[in-house]
Amino acid sequence: STQWIKAIARADVPDEDVIAVQAGGREIALYGVDGEVYATSNLCTHGNARLCDGFLEGHEIECPLHQGRFDVRDGRALCSPLRENVATYPVRIEDGMVFVAL
Ligand code: FES
Repeated sequence: STQWIKAIARADVPDEDVIAVQAGGREIALYGVDGEVYATSNLCTHGNARLCDGFLEGHEIECPLHQGRFDVRDGRALCSPLRENVATYPVRIEDGMVFVAL
């Protein structure tokens, strides 16, 4: 069953950038894009790298290790060497806090 986990204050999600949080025992990357907040797993599906250390451009996060790119809206792997999409999580904003559905 889906659980909404309180992750971080909305004000702490950077604009046009990424921040990592721990929520429900998982490492989640939160992205601020055009006033929206998106959440994915923080771990690249290709290797041992954290997406929070990558480079966000528009809706695309580039992995710091081999420059694979994911769409943060749906987790889609956009280029090689990625083969697997990354998990995404629904986001809700309430009372100035970001909640993530795990
Ligand atoms: Fe992310 Fe290789 S570890 S692209």
